[in-house]
Amino acid sequence: TITVTVNPPALGFAAVAKNRNDIVTVPEGYAATVLYRLGDPLTADTPDYANDGTDTDFANRAGDHNDALHYYGLTADGSGRDDSNSGRGLLVMNHENLNIQYLHPNGPTTPGGVRPEGEAIKEIEAHGLSIVEVAAGDDGWAYDQASGWNRRITPNTPMVFNGPARGSALLRTAYSANGAGGRGTINNCANGITAWGTNLTCEENWAGYFARPSSDNAARTAKEVTALGRYGVGSATGNYGWASVTASDPSNTLFRRWNATASGASAAEDFRNEPNNFGWVVEIDPFDPESTPRKRTALGRMGHEGAWPSLFVDGVRPAWYMGDDSRREYLYKFVSATPWDMTDAQATNRLAIGDKYLDDGTLYVARFDEDGSGEWLPLVFGTAPLTGANAAYPFADQADVLIHARLAADAIGATPMDRPEWTATNPATGEMYLTLTNNNAAGRPVDGTNAANPRHYNDPKAGSDQYGNPNGHILRLREAGDSSEATRFAWDIYAFGAGRDLNPTNINLSSLDATNDFSSPDGLWFGRPQNASGQVTPVLWIQTDDGAYTDVTNCMMLAAMPGTVGDGGARTVTNMNAAGETAQQRTFIGAAPGASMRRFLVGPIECEITGVDSTPDGRTLFVNIQHPGEGGEANAPTSNWPASQDGSPPSTTRPRSATVVVTKNDGGVVAL
Ligand code: FEO
Ligand code: CA
Ligand code: CA
Ligand code: CA
Repeated sequence: TITVTVNPPALGFAAVAKNRNDIVTVPEGYAATVLYRLGDPLTADTPDYANDGTDTDFANRAGDHNDALHYYGLTADGSGRDDSNSGRGLLVMNHENLNIQYLHPNGPTTPGGVRPEGEAIKEIEAHGLSIVEVAAGDDGWAYDQASGWNRRITPNTPMVFNGPARGSALLRTAYSANGAGGRGTINNCANGITAWGTNLTCEENWAGYFARPSSDNAARTAKEVTALGRYGVGSATGNYGWASVTASDPSNTLFRRWNATASGASAAEDFRNEPNNFGWVVEIDPFDPESTPRKRTALGRMGHEGAWPSLFVDGVRPAWYMGDDSRREYLYKFVSATPWDMTDAQATNRLAIGDKYLDDGTLYVARFDEDGSGEWLPLVFGTAPLTGANAAYPFADQADVLIHARLAADAIGATPMDRPEWTATNPATGEMYLTLTNNNAAGRPVDGTNAANPRHYNDPKAGSDQYGNPNGHILRLREAGDSSEATRFAWDIYAFGAGRDLNPTNINLSSLDATNDFSSPDGLWFGRPQNASGQVTPVLWIQTDDGAYTDVTNCMMLAAMPGTVGDGGARTVTNMNAAGETAQQRTFIGAAPGASMRRFLVGPIECEITGVDSTPDGRTLFVNIQHPGEGGEANAPTSNWPASQDGSPPSTTRPRSATVVVTKNDGGVVAL
């Protein structure tokens, strides 16, 4: 049986009220300070950020849209890795996307047309990741602009493919004739870690960056059309029109490669397979700034949200849990073929250790059954339906299965979910939690509910076009035998998002109140075990990315002390159709109302809260604030954060995504 040790036994802060202020609000007795913002320079020679659209050289500055982050301790003298140091370390963080309007003096000059090379270079380089050194000093935390550890990884950074799909014909491009190399990573969303000191960054909404008008279908095989359609590679121009750029150096294909059309492409410009170079989990060694990131194809290709590991148990094969964030997509698990050897934890050839655990194993997808059990279905080529005889999509080999994991999961009967986002693992029990951020009626009609996605209603806060499950929920899963190797599991629903004043029979099923009502959970993380006596204090942190509740509050972060799977029992929800009529009684397994949960932080205007980690001692919390003021215009911003955090800036001050540090004024462990 699972024993959860909680010490102290309760959350130790007063809930923050919902609000729409243009600052980060934290509980009384806590402070939030800004650490690292869009455009902050990462070398001694890089000029300060003017923040007026004239800045360039984002390959040497913080990128935009700070997303997932993780803290890696450095030794006190900064010479290398020390997992235990809570005063000096590296932050590895994703830069998912752009508030493009603020990157240029008056926004993009030719949106939808032929894009200027200089603007495109800035936009491309503002994506990717930062690795940045941070340290606590007498005046609090600061990042080190001149640190030799600082690194930007961008969509242009050379990478290699590892695992079963390396060298596949489906990965070959004009850049890499042997399908073993590629360039860059994009739309990096959530993350994952390993036990050997590396970072996993996950490529989510990469498909939209490619230009591939529907006329391209005529130059493709039927199988290719099926595959490209399943992954949504069908934009006429690509998100920001980078393929339209005329490169000043004709041999530079870093713009052309965003054009994935097969028709008429010369051999030197044939990037029809470039979309297959994205959608992966990428391993990065933050302690080797010269290292080449490795795309781990064994973990499958999808709209990867994150890749959070199971507990690492000596002699047991470790697993990584992965959401594919789109409506009706699936939850996956990769189980390494190699049992964990704890002597690898401090090895210095970290990416080679990654080869050992991440290049060979089994990718599974989840089927959730009505009775609260479930099965991990292996995506292995050669066993029906994953063969060449599969009518919907004939698979050629294991590389084809991994590159088209969504099609394999369709074929094998996985359960479509309400947009699987982050996963997190309870450090006390190994139970896995999964955010299902929301879904709409088109993605899940009322007759399409199932026990794992049971709710269908019309939220008056969400607007009449958003009935379905606009507020989302959080599911949790316990492996059979509490083993990461298991192929069976038990699951239940931990909490449903809802406004506190909404109907308890069909919307506010978790009895949320003013201290904890939320919508659209996304970021999810268990606090680090930080108790000096070795006890584990499992605090679950929940972050929101919400369009359905923004008339009431900006996005937020909550803390919770969860129970265990099955502690609620069988329950029933009354589902409604768009007319508000009772359409269904649906039974599910779910937590009892009144789960211990409390709002810890509310962000500034039009932001999303995403990315959270702490120092090993739990006394410094790092939180990312993504896309404040995303609805504004270049010279008419809707948020002035972070300048607004401690001052009254001019109303034209442009907002910047940024990392904040949250500490308790008495120096104690955050949240306890
Ligand atoms: Fe980038 Fe699913 O959030
Ligand atoms: Ca997310
Ligand atoms: Ca989201
Ligand atoms: Ca986002």
